[in-house]
Amino acid sequence: MLEINGLHRGFGTGANRVEVLKGIDLEMKKGELVALMGPSGCGKSTLLNIIGGLLAAEKGNIRLEERDYGLKGPSAVVDVRRHKVGWIFQDFHLLEHLSALDNVTMALEISGMPSSEAEKKAKKALVRVGLGDRMTHIPEQLSGGQQQRVAIARAIAGERPLLLADEPTGNLDISTGKDVLQIFKDLCHTEDDPISILMVTHDPELASKADRMLLLKDGKTAASDIRSAWGLEEGEEE
Ligand SMILES: Nc1ncnc2c1ncn2[C@@H]1O[C@H](COP(=O)(O)OP(=O)(O)O)[C@@H](O)[C@H]1O
Ligand SMILES: [Mg+2]
Repeated sequence: MLEINGLHRGFGTGANRVEVLKGIDLEMKKGELVALMGPSGCGKSTLLNIIGGLLAAEKGNIRLEERDYGLKGPSAVVDVRRHKVGWIFQDFHLLEHLSALDNVTMALEISGMPSSEAEKKAKKALVRVGLGDRMTHIPEQLSGGQQQRVAIARAIAGERPLLLADEPTGNLDISTGKDVLQIFKDLCHTEDDPISILMVTHDPELASKADRMLLLKDGKTAASDIRSAWGLEEGEEE
């Protein structure tokens, strides 16, 4: 469903130039949960931003369900952001005065859906992440894990085929992080309209529970196993 070929992106000019992505090749299948690891500053968020249509690459191509882009600037990929890709962030990004239901409904309304349909889809998504009995709660009445589940509901409510999660468990304790990963697995490994998830994480144990691990290092991605992922963590702590 996703195919990336030879993607390059750097920042700055002249002596201040840094090459960040130096030829990324990556493929994902429908229903796949892929963990992306790599040292801080190696370009994980940059890669997600390009896939999500927030940033243009300088070379290479992205094909996401028949849509080709990669070199196009944000204004030329509005359709990718609206219909193809959902986002989950470390710090949830919920609106604090709105209920769980309104947070999810509003995101759908912004993308152009009529209110009644938006509310119906929002309710369905909240039930799917196990928050059917918390819909009228505002964020501060919810635990961190529940807030992240609202954010997941918001990301899946629009029925987008690819979900990008940038360190989604970074603000959660270990057991809540595992719950989030289980929700991701359920969303990917269902018969009924599976989605694909690309998840950045620093936690090798969570990463090892994904279908596949990728390591982004020196501007390129490579398949990784649990052993090298742990090695990476040790290297970071030195
Ligand atoms: N808008 C930008 N302008 C200049 N440099 C940037 C910009 N965005 C990212 N970078 C640089 O690109 C590198 C990769 O950043 P990032 O993708 O955020 O890494 P990661 O998410 O893996 O920690 C870093 O050196 C960062 O400073
Ligand atoms: Mg990052």
